[in-house]
Amino acid sequence: MTLRTPVRVALTGAAGNIGYALAFRIAAGDLLGSRQPVILHLIEVEAARRPLDALVMELDDCAAPLLHDIVATTDLDEGFGDVDWALLVGARPRRQGMERSDLLRVNARIFATQGQALERAAKRQVRVVVVGNPANTNALIALSHAPHLNPHHFSAMTRLDHNRAVSLLARHTGHHAHQVRGVTIWGNHSTTQYPDLHHATVAGRPALELVEWAWYTQTFIPEVQQRGAKVIEMRGASSAGSAANALIDHVQTWAYGTPHDDWTSMAVLAEGSYGIAGGVFYSFPVTCALGEYELVRGLEISSFSRERMEATDRELRRERDQVRDLLGPALG
Ligand code: NAD
Ligand code: LMR
Repeated sequence: MTLRTPVRVALTGAAGNIGYALAFRIAAGDLLGSRQPVILHLIEVEAARRPLDALVMELDDCAAPLLHDIVATTDLDEGFGDVDWALLVGARPRRQGMERSDLLRVNARIFATQGQALERAAKRQVRVVVVGNPANTNALIALSHAPHLNPHHFSAMTRLDHNRAVSLLARHTGHHAHQVRGVTIWGNHSTTQYPDLHHATVAGRPALELVEWAWYTQTFIPEVQQRGAKVIEMRGASSAGSAANALIDHVQTWAYGTPHDDWTSMAVLAEGSYGIAGGVFYSFPVTCALGEYELVRGLEISSFSRERMEATDRELRRERDQVRDLLGPALG
């Protein structure tokens, strides 16, 4: 078997819950495939130095054939040095009773600094996925500090919401997740997100013909919107295994493509499509091929959908207004 040149993958918050669930799967080849060696750049804050070193010990103890090398550091320039992928997970997580907006300014500063470091140190074609909440606005802040990086290579993760929606629809209709197509998460990774089934199918049949409208509006939409808070309530901490899994799905799909008859959801820089003006990271339906995404165009939008798409857009613009002073030169 011929192995390829190693790809450098940076992971911030490596010693945290998601980082711990993710690092071993990356080492095992789940992220970029079983023929792709990786060099893992594990980035943490000084206070987490010991768990970070322990993570390196455990990764060493896996003797993973695809794990070519490990860089474990608290220095962002070293951590982002020459990386191909930057998975920005590290942030203060939301605790029970806290809204994502409470985290806004605390985490915004982290992402401004990381955007600047990516600009200095990463490969020019680096692809960035923001997971740390509020993910959409953090992606905007990071990009705004990286004027020489490709804005179409920055994204925020709504794949967990997408997967939740697919799974809930499949369960309710007595099918399996692999029989669901065409689900869309519009907008913010927050309770205003709009999980849209108007274009979805289950085993080839329109989803909205298989479910009651009341179930869609009164159960499905709020359950997907509130799922993260529910996990926090039950677990006492935010979702980690499913978030790590969604991040793997997000990167794999971006790198290797969507199936020919489906799309996924990614929060990307809005540029006017579907009436969403520029200047926010908004989750859209996208197809991916060869490491690039493209918005799915021309979907018919009902007035029911339009109202919800606008509500989540308004929230994103309010978030942006709260951190406007922290935006950098690329979008200022
Ligand atoms: P955690 O508290 O377990 O871990 C966070 C880690 O980040 C900690 O180890 C901490 O030391 C580190 N960290 C903090 N600031 C850092 C910085 N400036 N640089 C590098 N590392 C830093 O939290 P977690 O459960 O792993 O969650 C991480 C983030 O992901 C949170 O913001 C959470 O809300 C978010 N999240 C997003 C989604 C999503 O779908 N987008 C899903 C789940 C969780
Ligand atoms: C999730 O959707 O599970 C998380 O984003 C929840 C959170 O706020 O950490």
